Amino acid sequence: MLREKLIPAERLERVIATIAEELDADLEGRDAVFICVLKGAVHFFSSLTLKLHHPIVTDFIQLHSYGATTESSGTVTLVKDITVDIAGKDVYVVEDIVDTGLTLLDILALLRARHPRTVQVVALLSKPARRRVEVPVDFLGVEIEDRFVVGFGLDFAERFRNLPEIWEFAPDEEAR
Ligand code: IMP
Repeated sequence: MLREKLIPAERLERVIATIAEELDADLEGRDAVFICVLKGAVHFFSSLTLKLHHPIVTDFIQLHSYGATTESSGTVTLVKDITVDIAGKDVYVVEDIVDTGLTLLDILALLRARHPRTVQVVALLSKPARRRVEVPVDFLGVEIEDRFVVGFGLDFAERFRNLPEIWEFAPDEEAR
């Protein structure tokens, strides 16, 4: 069940506008490719990239993530690869949330093997208490506690992605 609204739509909008400003300053003189990590980052990616004033290239990548559970499996498989050549480019990986960091670690290894000039990470949310591996988060929206959240792209068993705000979700009560 949806337990508590953690981040209302208006706050998300402000947070994303701030990240877009930071990115615009960083994008000066760069040849940028923004990579959306499907499916969770799709609303964040869309809102963020529409706010940028610099011309950028966009692409999409999808990895296998959680099933109908709130725990990471720890193993990540590539479902959909990017289609642009990132060699020599400035890559920005756009993630919905960094939890254990395992997904991001795999994405970074995969992308770095293709010789981009730089790789940076942009994440809407981060749960530092859950981190199992050290990963860089260069641009961050909101740091949250160890709670399972849904909405604004984030799901539980593919549901709730279309909620315009971020909610805490309690899977146990749902199962009863
Ligand atoms: P990590 O590999 O554990 O860092 O998990 C990364 C992915 O797990 C994210 O991109 C999300 O798709 C998913 N995830 C992690 N925490 C949550 C959450 O609280 N709600 C929904 N999905 C989550």
